[in-house]
Amino acid sequence: MGKEKIQLNEVEMVTKGSTSQVGATRMPRTAVIPVVNDPKYGLNAGAVSAGVVNLDPLHVLFGVKSPASKLTYHKATEFVVALPRRDQIDHMWVTACSVPVGINEIELAGWTELPSQVIATPGIKEVPLNLECKKVHMIQLDEPLRCILIGEVVGVSIDTHLLTLPRSEVIKQFPMHEATSNPYTGIYGPSVLSGELVPLAEQPQVDVEKRGDGEKTFVKASDLYKPENQAVAMNAIFPRPSYILITLDEKGHPNGLLTSGGLMMSARPGVQISVPKNSYSYENIKRTGEFVYAITTRDLLENFEAMENNTPDGFEAAGFSFLKPNQIKVLGLAECPVNVDCKVLRFEDVPGTNYAVVVAKRVGVSIDKEIANMPNMMDLYSKYLYAVVDRGMKRKWGFHDRENLTVRPLPSWGSRYHGGWWTGPEQYQAGFNLWLLELVQAGYISDEEFFKIRLWVSWFRREGFPAPEPLWSELRQRLTRVLKMMVWAHRDYDKWHKVHQYLAKFTYQGSWKSP
Ligand SMILES: Cc1cc2nc3c(=O)[nH]c(=O)nc-3n(C[C@H](O)[C@H](O)[C@H](O)COP(=O)(O)O)c2cc1C
Repeated sequence: MGKEKIQLNEVEMVTKGSTSQVGATRMPRTAVIPVVNDPKYGLNAGAVSAGVVNLDPLHVLFGVKSPASKLTYHKATEFVVALPRRDQIDHMWVTACSVPVGINEIELAGWTELPSQVIATPGIKEVPLNLECKKVHMIQLDEPLRCILIGEVVGVSIDTHLLTLPRSEVIKQFPMHEATSNPYTGIYGPSVLSGELVPLAEQPQVDVEKRGDGEKTFVKASDLYKPENQAVAMNAIFPRPSYILITLDEKGHPNGLLTSGGLMMSARPGVQISVPKNSYSYENIKRTGEFVYAITTRDLLENFEAMENNTPDGFEAAGFSFLKPNQIKVLGLAECPVNVDCKVLRFEDVPGTNYAVVVAKRVGVSIDKEIANMPNMMDLYSKYLYAVVDRGMKRKWGFHDRENLTVRPLPSWGSRYHGGWWTGPEQYQAGFNLWLLELVQAGYISDEEFFKIRLWVSWFRREGFPAPEPLWSELRQRLTRVLKMMVWAHRDYDKWHKVHQYLAKFTYQGSWKSP
């Protein structure tokens, strides 16, 4: 029997639920940096959360929300999904800065482009894993403005030395996961897995020979699942959150599908998962538009695995019992600390594949009462199950490292009022502007410098009236230079002094008028 639960509806989750109760419905999700090219404005890179939605072929899903990025992805047919290492967290924050389109975040981060092998869009040389993707599906939601992208991995570039390391070592380095947020600032705390794998990770049997150019190893998608490329494939399939998907069949019997992958995030709609076409879940969700995802924890590992062997309806045999219904007809599981009622917003077959992508919103939660007062969400997150592929393409269970939640001091990485310098769709670039204002308030830049930067940005922005050449390129260069200095200056006054010197080179020119 599980612990005492409370049940909340969609409204109560906000008005009654504590931050930890709401946070518990999210599962730490992989932070990636997709790189996309706009033929006119150049490269655009930015941190987003991503999930694996299909294994063969390997498909990756993420969502973008800024109007400019959506436009770029709408036109694009390909992109690279780059996965940074734990020690590249500062660079990741930089790429999340909502700078105007035309400013290349790879340059701001001080990184270099990595030419791709199959597609024309480059990746990022410094990160350990670059997944070259063809866009296979894009969903523009009516409300909210977010759009969802699915990329098919057509090529994988990975740091060659990683191929010789045990999987348990690699997952301590990358990927990072967006784990939780500070309730006051909203700034994310990225986490990595602890390295513990259940059952134990296997050591490499033989030393993998160094391949490729000695630094990066490249494998194209058609070779990814060949035995000689296992070390590449198991890294390309990054860790996937695991949970039980519960649906009701036509007779009202509950059906369980053990699922690994997808995205349970904070941005609304919060749930983006995939269901295989040949499953009961597919038929049930399509028919009813409802499902529950029940989050299993480490202490339920045996039950989880027993359930997997008894799918679709071996709940009792696996030691699970049902809760009373909450907001939908589908029931949650008493033993699972978190059960989330979901209603489907979009159900779409992904063309040319064997699965459907399901976009859903949370309409209720049945959750362990004790979670309401949990002081550190990592206590809970470190119990959630993650499917990690190990040598021999064996699935192991990985866990978040309770001790490794990093939240950076502000204002280095954005406004303390707003959270980071990234923004929601309703406040396009508000985070960026709040950051600038806070820099004025804290004395890092002067009023005049603020106006100068704002002026350059508004002249430069394409949604205004794009500046004619050579002014556009001149502004691009100036903004790239000054923003790069600013995003890395943190609280170092010497570095801000260089910002002042640079800005002083340019007079304040009043307003520029379109010819
Ligand atoms: C860890 C992390 C995860 C993020 N996840 C998302 C996401 O899933 N979708 C999104 O639109 N923005 C996400 N953001 C914010 C974007 O990085 C930010 O809005 C960025 O400015 C997007 O670039 P753009 O303005 O060019 O679209 C995330 C930021 C961080 C640091």
